[in-house]
Amino acid sequence: MTAGVHDAALARVPVIAIDGPTASGKGTIAQRVAAALGFHYLDSGALYRLTAFAALRAGVAADDAPGVAVVAGALPVAFPEGRIELAGEDVGDAIRTEAMSQAASVVAAHPAVRSALLERQRAFRQPPGLVSDGRDMGSVVFPDALLKVFLTATAETRAERRYKQLMEKGLAANLASILHDLRTRDARDSGRAVAPLQAGAPEAVLDSDDLTIEEVVAIVLERYRIAVRVQASGRSAGAGGSTLQD
Ligand code: DC
Repeated sequence: MTAGVHDAALARVPVIAIDGPTASGKGTIAQRVAAALGFHYLDSGALYRLTAFAALRAGVAADDAPGVAVVAGALPVAFPEGRIELAGEDVGDAIRTEAMSQAASVVAAHPAVRSALLERQRAFRQPPGLVSDGRDMGSVVFPDALLKVFLTATAETRAERRYKQLMEKGLAANLASILHDLRTRDARDSGRAVAPLQAGAPEAVLDSDDLTIEEVVAIVLERYRIAVRVQASGRSAGAGGSTLQD
């Protein structure tokens, strides 16, 4: 297969892009949707967290944009069986601390860091399909995604969910400080100049305030089925009624 044909084939691999603010439940929803469809899963936030983690370890400050971009470009990362590894070390827990969340949000605001991670994210688009979650999946990384979802909930709901999660893990948690940290990250992720968090089309919005995880998953799957049907009918209309093979 030539590179052009290969690229064209990959461009037809369906992508479900799930964007949303901090603690909106994107990760959980995206993983369940991926499992239901047998698709690959990309946690793009993990790449920004890994970049922040690797930079701090290398003694590069989070606000040193060129320095962090070099780290992002050479990130020795692997995701074997759902684990998150940096140079063979399991760092799944280490990148989820509050300090790393804030540092990830700082490094993610550097345009050079975002470009350094772009192709790495697109490489996850492999048959039979991909579900990716983040802030700019639908706007920048996979603008041609078959389905774009903007998953949201009020800051209070999201803070309460995070609080419960930490309590269930037996970790110390303070609701007021969670809410404060979450709003700080929201403001940074939405206010930055490059690839800010944005809702996109109004029909992409899925407000999860009064919904269970199962209900949200079911809605996303239903929207996906509709998107597949619409795409198929568009293709057969474009081909004069003949059936195109995917
Ligand atoms: O989704 P998360 O909380 O793990 O993301 C960590 C940080 O990375 C978050 O503050 C915003 C940033 N991020 C981003 O800018 N673009 C993405 N596609 C994913 C995450």
